Amino acid sequence: MNTPKFGLTLLSVWVLSLNMACAPKEQSTPVPSKSAAVFDTQQSIAELMQWVIDPAADTLWDSVSWVSNEKGTKANAPKSEEDWKALKVQASILVESANLLMLEGRAKDQDVWMQQARNFGLEARKNLKAIEEKNVDKLFELGGDLDHACESCHLKYANYKTETAAK
Ligand code: HEC
Repeated sequence: MNTPKFGLTLLSVWVLSLNMACAPKEQSTPVPSKSAAVFDTQQSIAELMQWVIDPAADTLWDSVSWVSNEKGTKANAPKSEEDWKALKVQASILVESANLLMLEGRAKDQDVWMQQARNFGLEARKNLKAIEEKNVDKLFELGGDLDHACESCHLKYANYKTETAAK
C-alpha cells in the first residue's frame, strides 16, 4: 500500500509547485485575459434602435419608391455607384445589428429573442445581397419583409407599434 501513497504525495508536490509557478507575484485588480471579449452594452435597446437600426432601415426603405402620374411610372431608385455604396453601408449596419441584439446584456432571453434577432439578420442580409446585385425590384420587394421582421419582435417585446398607435 506504500506505492499509491507515494504516488499521491509526488502528485501533490507537483500540483503545489505548479500552483506556485502560476500564482501572481502581487495581488492587483483582475485584468481580463487577452482573449476575453469585453462588450460595451451601455447603449440600451431603445438607443440602439433609435441611433443605429432605425436610421439604417429608413435609408433602405426610402431608397426605392415608385411614382405614378399620367406620364407613366417613374422609379426613384439608386442610380450611381455611390448611391449603391451608401446603401451597402446601411444594409451592413443592419446585418451586424442583429448580432448586437444577441449580445449578453442585450438579449432578453435565449429563445424567442434570439430567433427574432436572427430572423431580422437574415432579412437584412437579403437586402444586402439585393444591393450587391443592384436589383431594384428585389430591394423594393424586400422592404416589406424587413419591416415585418421589426414588427414581429416589437409585438413580442416592445409593443412598440401598438403603443405608438395608441398615442
Ligand atoms: C429582436 C427584437 C427587435 C428587432 C428585430 C427590432 N426591434 Fe426595435 N425595439 C425592440 C425593443 C425591445 C424595443 C423597445 C425598447 C425599449 O423601449 O426599451 C424597440 C424599440 C424600437 C424603437 C423605439 C425606440 C425608442 O426611441 O424608444 C424603434 C424606432 C425601433 N425599435 C425600430 C426598429 C426597426 C426599424 C427595426 C427593424 C429594421 C427594429 N426595431 C427591429 C426590439 C426589436
